[in-house]
Amino acid sequence: MFIPINFIIKEGGFRVRKTFKLVVAAAALMAISASASAFSTSPCKACHALDHDVVGPAWDRVAKKYGSEAALAKVFKAGFPVNERKVAMSEPKFKAQAATMTGMYQTYIKGHEADAAKALFAAVKSNKM
Ligand code: HEC
Repeated sequence: MFIPINFIIKEGGFRVRKTFKLVVAAAALMAISASASAFSTSPCKACHALDHDVVGPAWDRVAKKYGSEAALAKVFKAGFPVNERKVAMSEPKFKAQAATMTGMYQTYIKGHEADAAKALFAAVKSNKM
């Protein structure tokens, strides 16, 4: 990726070349970190909606029960134990289905806990999943 740029500015001397290389490297790093932190809520839509229960509870109620992104991220980071899940612990019909959500946690959320919590709260706030 650096080669064509070096070629174009070959006449510019060492300092210019170095600056261009750094700019390109920084842009590449930003692109990588942007894609790594993006958490897609697409797979969640199979079972969740924002304002009504589907297979899982409505996300506006989930967000209300946790109160903050940080609180949800904390439970995700703790491994999402059922006894710390605020919805499951207060709504027996969802506690009975906790295993389903555990599978989804393992597949999609584990390793992306903060981003997942952020995405859920952002979806509720913007009213768009
Ligand atoms: C196959 C269906 C299914 C999919 C897909 C799914 N969920 Fe769930 N989810 C459930 C069910 C069922 C519950 C209720 C059981 C529970 O709360 O543990 C739930 C509950 C939750 C809760 C509340 C947990 C609690 O009890 O406090 C959160 C947060 C959540 N899901 C987030 C997500 C996110 C984020 C995704 C996408 C990565 C997702 N879910 C995808 C079925 C699903």
